[in-house]
Amino acid sequence: MLNNKKIILGITGSIAAYKAAALLRLLIRDGAEAQVVMTPAAKEFIAPLSLSTLSRKAVVSEFFAGKDGTWNSHVDLGLWADAMLIAPATASTIGKMANGIADNMLVTTYLSCKAPVLLAPAMDLDMYAHPATQSNLQRIRSYGNIIIEPASGELASGLVGKGRMEEPEAIIAALKNHFAMRSALHGRKILVTAGPTFERIDPVRFVGNFSSGKMGFAIAEGCAERGAEVTLIAGPVSLRTSHPQIRRIDVESAREMHAAAMESFPSSDAAILCAAVADFRPATIAEEKIKREDSSEMILHLTPNPDIAASIGALKRSGQIVAGFALETSDGIAHASAKLKRKNFDFIALNPANELDAGFGVDTNRITIIDSNGICRAFPLKSKQEAAADIINELITRLP
Ligand code: PMT
Repeated sequence: MLNNKKIILGITGSIAAYKAAALLRLLIRDGAEAQVVMTPAAKEFIAPLSLSTLSRKAVVSEFFAGKDGTWNSHVDLGLWADAMLIAPATASTIGKMANGIADNMLVTTYLSCKAPVLLAPAMDLDMYAHPATQSNLQRIRSYGNIIIEPASGELASGLVGKGRMEEPEAIIAALKNHFAMRSALHGRKILVTAGPTFERIDPVRFVGNFSSGKMGFAIAEGCAERGAEVTLIAGPVSLRTSHPQIRRIDVESAREMHAAAMESFPSSDAAILCAAVADFRPATIAEEKIKREDSSEMILHLTPNPDIAASIGALKRSGQIVAGFALETSDGIAHASAKLKRKNFDFIALNPANELDAGFGVDTNRITIIDSNGICRAFPLKSKQEAAADIINELITRLP
């Protein structure tokens, strides 16, 4: 997993910095190429010479080399790496990372890094539990960075609690797991629907809903990051996609989304249907803008749209996995379970329609995954990227 991988090992000023030498040795043993970047404070805890000897590379710590003014390019480093691992990560560095305070080589490299970032916090238990640290960690998670939770045990202060940096073997296992997960969907084709559909009333009006597309786009990005070729069928949203493995098809109405999904699904390994599809559309579309003066009231006749999920569920072959969503205001589990059966889903993600921090529009979601055996797993409030990761993990365990 780590053979030939290029890893930036960021080390910050904590007593746990002494474990960085063991971590580095394990990286090299497993075939990785490691570049150490230290904060000035880290040098108080471990000598750069030990680390440059182990990594067989000069340690980077300053923006400029004192003697000849050579510039250390944080941008080049950020582009070079397959992953950045910051261990130990102090409360101070976590705060700088969360807020983009680039006053040392390590945080500048972090901000320039295009590769995944993992960090192993190390600090005293009260510092770790402080709301400021927790909110900084939450912020960092929302950037897609992975936190390797500290362990509980005896701390440098003599106190006992949560804050000890994980042992080097556990950190290496987390890094390997990360690379394994990143390639878990390699060669798979995944269809994702996202956003609302707009159903035209006349040339200027439509029937629609509040879906922003954020949840579906997070799923599409998450699948692509794990190596899948993704077909993202998106209703009218203002989001952008940049991942080269996402083929995006923009549609407006449920019928257009249905046609695109029917074309893509047969060659897909899985479908995750996150779009908020309008169940009904106006029976006729007025050719001219409807004028207020022409009548005292307006009655809209609606006709049912095709059910994309049910059509896909009916087409599903053995080995293909289909996951849906249920957006509910009440009796969520019962309604979601009924939808799962009716639409022949393998599992369904239930999310609330009446909570301010979940469901439509916002950046966070609270999902419960229900499978066809009726097993429910409720997840806490998370960023939509993290909720997407939970759904993708569920998919991975089910793909043949
Ligand atoms: O886009 P965001 O602002 O991030 O919000 C995300 C979300 C709340 C829209 C999303 O998480 C979500 O819940 N999507 C499904 C919303 C919905 O339409 O739920 P439903 O219970 O009406 O539909 C059940 C399932 O059938 C869904 O998988 C839906 O995509 C699918 N369906 C529904 C109707 C239809 N005609 N065709 C479908 O495929």
